[in-house]
Amino acid sequence: MSPDQVKKVGVIGCGIMGSGITEVVARSGIAVTVVEINEDALERGIGKIETSAKKAVARGKMSEEARDALLACIEPSTELEAIADVDLVVEAASEDVDVKLALFRQLDAVVRPGVILATNTSSISIVELGEVTQRPDKVVGMHFFNPPAVMKLLEIVRGLLTSEETVEFARRFGERVGKTTVLSKDRAGFIVNWLLMPYLNSAVRMLEEGFATREDIDNAVVLGLAHPMGPLALLDLIGLDTAVYISNVLYDEFKDHLYAPPTLLKRMVMAGQLGRKSGKGFYDYS
Ligand code: CAA
Repeated sequence: MSPDQVKKVGVIGCGIMGSGITEVVARSGIAVTVVEINEDALERGIGKIETSAKKAVARGKMSEEARDALLACIEPSTELEAIADVDLVVEAASEDVDVKLALFRQLDAVVRPGVILATNTSSISIVELGEVTQRPDKVVGMHFFNPPAVMKLLEIVRGLLTSEETVEFARRFGERVGKTTVLSKDRAGFIVNWLLMPYLNSAVRMLEEGFATREDIDNAVVLGLAHPMGPLALLDLIGLDTAVYISNVLYDEFKDHLYAPPTLLKRMVMAGQLGRKSGKGFYDYS
């Protein structure tokens, strides 16, 4: 099957990334079945898609008809079996290796043998996920960026056992849903997070040491480097728990202090201050 023939995509997880990926795929007129673990999580995820589509209409990025068509493309489910007939899977469950390994075993059993299983992981090894399936050549990284509806990049990650056809399929499918792709080898952090995490962690260390205030650190980057947001605001967007997880994966791989999550970041996660999703992080969103 070519990427142009994909009629239905299965997205696993409807959190920040899963809901965004569902929105991106449905926006291209492709049917999506999105699976969550329970009705509450599913409802919250669909709510995020509706809010984002509403915002796109308000900003003149989408017509009301296109929004209705987008929402009509989405089939929510709490049963993994609901994706048995899809032509491509994009897994976007929690960034936790044990969760993902268990899911890939299940996906391999539920989804037709020739179908590609992509993962939106931002740090976990593609080959490790592929190895628990009978189709490691069809397991590939498709790493979207937050918020997926706005960010233009899609990192394609080739594991040691991923075939050339699978990489090409992922690239062309990414282009079909409007993204620009880059290709990375399978190393912790891939391209973007390998560069991003030391920068974000350095900003937290600056704050922790009292070197500069939260506002000055963020303003310095926004005004001095023309980034759309400063590092502390960006950490709130990504989620502090996700940032700690990614940092730990990078630290495990490279054993370099540069990647180690700063103490303040870990303590904030322990305190339930996860950023925008919990209503409080470096800034207050309540
Ligand atoms: N649908 C379509 N377009 C939308 C939209 C939506 N739901 N929401 C916003 N937009 C568009 C706006 O129309 C605007 O477009 P133009 O520039 O053409 O006018 C653009 O997006 C920006 O709009 P705003 O500034 O009004 O948007 P905002 O304040 O709501 O959101 C932001 C701002 C897009 C989040 C911006 O601050 C940004 O780009 N921040 C950086 C995000 C970033 O770095 N993400 C990567 C995170 S790292 C990651 O994801 C990797 C990982 O593994 C951790």
